[in-house]
Amino acid sequence: MLAVIGGTGLSEVNGFESVGRKRIYTPYAEKRVWVELLQYRNNTLAFLPRHGKNHVIPPHKVNYRANLWALHKLGVTQVVAVNAVGGIHENLAPGAFAIPDQIIDYTYGRSATYFEEDLESVTHIDFTNPFAETLRRTLLDSVNAANKASNRARLIMDGGVYGCMQGPRLETAAEVSKLKQDGCDLLGMTAMPEAALARELGMGYAMLALSVNWAAGLFEGEIRMEEITAVVEDGMDFVVCVLQSLLQN
Ligand code: HPA
Repeated sequence: MLAVIGGTGLSEVNGFESVGRKRIYTPYAEKRVWVELLQYRNNTLAFLPRHGKNHVIPPHKVNYRANLWALHKLGVTQVVAVNAVGGIHENLAPGAFAIPDQIIDYTYGRSATYFEEDLESVTHIDFTNPFAETLRRTLLDSVNAANKASNRARLIMDGGVYGCMQGPRLETAAEVSKLKQDGCDLLGMTAMPEAALARELGMGYAMLALSVNWAAGLFEGEIRMEEITAVVEDGMDFVVCVLQSLLQN
């Protein structure tokens, strides 16, 4: 089964029918993880809003281990994350999409592995390519299909380096100029440890990122939350079309 982890702006998915909720117990949280089952044309996907139903859990407080464990327990094999990001690459103006192919992890203090206790031996995973290439391709095909069906085509960047920041604050202008030198094309706060945990559990993971602002210092002035909200709202209908197309594949 396919799962969608929704980020900022995607706490619920319109255009799909809810066909049930699962409350899943995991060893990583006292509270059970809620996963919604959504249907479109007889295909079902599992939906997990990363920041909680009411968008109250900040990026550094998300229980990534519980979330991914719950999806795995439910029988999920492929995970598509939908993330709002800040754009650095010139193709990633607000409103443009990217399907990144690399990650640099700048986070700290997050519980980032299942291989920590009660080990029979120390375990390392290969993470050369943090995103599943086949799933990336399928996602790209779905974006192209959604673009064909829409009267307003969206820009889509195939590839890109996602810099994962600790947050919840946004960056300083100097930080962004250093991150650009590091090779980052887009910035977010949640791909790590999510992508690594998916890999540890053997699930394919890919991301559809929506640029909601230019990263700090790349334009005159400061980042305004109202502008981010407007871009998110504008982008989410398109995201739903992409997910519908993805589910038909
Ligand atoms: N930086 C980091 N994360 C983000 C941004 C940003 O500019 N915009 C949305 N998520």
